[in-house]
Amino acid sequence: MTAMSSLYAEHLALLKQRSDAALAKAGFDHLVIASGVEKYQFLDDRPYPFKPNPHFKHWVPLQQHPHSWIAYTPGSKPVLAYYQPDDYWHVPPSPPEGFWVEHFDIRILREPSDAAAHLPRGRVAIVGEADAALEGVVPNNPKVLLDELHYQRGYKTAYELDRMRRAQRRAVKGHRAAEAAFRAGASELEIHRAYLEATGHGDLDLPYTNIIGLNAHAAVLHYQYQSPERPAKPLSFLIDAGAEVDGYASDITRTYAAHDGAFAELIAAVDDEQQALCGMVRNGADYRDLHLECHLRLGSVLRNAGIVDMDPGAMVSEGVTSVFFPHGLGHPIGLQVHDVAGRHDADGNEIPRPTGHPYLRTTRKLGPGMVVTIEPGLYFIPTLLAKLKAGPNAKAVDWDQVDAMTPYGGVRIEDEVVCTEGAPENITRDAFAESA
Ligand code: GLY
Ligand code: MN
Ligand code: MN
Repeated sequence: MTAMSSLYAEHLALLKQRSDAALAKAGFDHLVIASGVEKYQFLDDRPYPFKPNPHFKHWVPLQQHPHSWIAYTPGSKPVLAYYQPDDYWHVPPSPPEGFWVEHFDIRILREPSDAAAHLPRGRVAIVGEADAALEGVVPNNPKVLLDELHYQRGYKTAYELDRMRRAQRRAVKGHRAAEAAFRAGASELEIHRAYLEATGHGDLDLPYTNIIGLNAHAAVLHYQYQSPERPAKPLSFLIDAGAEVDGYASDITRTYAAHDGAFAELIAAVDDEQQALCGMVRNGADYRDLHLECHLRLGSVLRNAGIVDMDPGAMVSEGVTSVFFPHGLGHPIGLQVHDVAGRHDADGNEIPRPTGHPYLRTTRKLGPGMVVTIEPGLYFIPTLLAKLKAGPNAKAVDWDQVDAMTPYGGVRIEDEVVCTEGAPENITRDAFAESA
């Protein structure tokens, strides 16, 4: 057995155990998972890029396989109903191969509807989108089962951590190339292309659309364009870009300044706080405390930089830090960039966000095997600043400094950190260090 196949065997054994428990809890005898169907543009024969049901790719490292199914009955070898059409318009999926195939009873399908004959009937939990339904096989997505599976998915297996470390290394190649392109004066579009080239990704298989913002575009949290124009004067560059390996995502942000000065110092200060926060990803830590700690620390950064003259605690309680840091500290990541169950327990009960922090995606306590992003930022967002200027705390702000920083957009630094029994493992920093 290769290292990979034994890691996968262990992963699958744990998935089965978790599924056994979730089926028993929810009162079902079988678990059926639809990969999904290709979706077509309205009144057209052009499909949208296919993205599989994450439950499907949890079991098998297959990303481009619509109309396929997994059927699992506790105690039996899982069935993979594998759609492999005779299609001369497209390249059909190749025969299944790799370290994982021996673990499945594989049935080849030539027509999507053929799957129905291979799937169990009776008390079946069927996980999938409504449009995957076949005759007699209609997704029911039992909430009790999904809540349990989603919660457990927060704890990554050794196989998943291996895939995620690889997804870091793949993205870091792109981040290195992107920084070099920025330093050479490239446009956002040119930087994006350099990223794709270095990672070997195309636009369609990125885990999310790259955020490539020069100058004031760095203040747009999910900036969605890539301008082909080279800026007359490059000042700053924010890149939030990931990669994927066997369906597992990375999500990394770096910010660069074109020259020394106050903005470069702000990046360094946010980076220091980011690393300190990464160090707090510890067994038993409540992610909400990390988020609030982040606000306090960013308040200190704002005060030390002379941007806001207020006590950091007051800045947090008055909502001033939220003007400069209007998103959450981070989220679980894995099969999905914003992975499931960041704010719910195993019974689906919501774990509330702190009051005044509506965008925080993670409220769970951390435990070994969980992987979260830590992504503090400080931004100069004109619409939010205008509200601050019109309010009672305006007098505490050095508006000349704010105006001087606004053309630089903002700073975000984002890493993925694995919670362990002991010291956290920052898989993003490790990948950057390896590539140095
Ligand atoms: N790339 C989106 C995020 O950082 O959550
Ligand atoms: Mn993120
Ligand atoms: Mn990101």
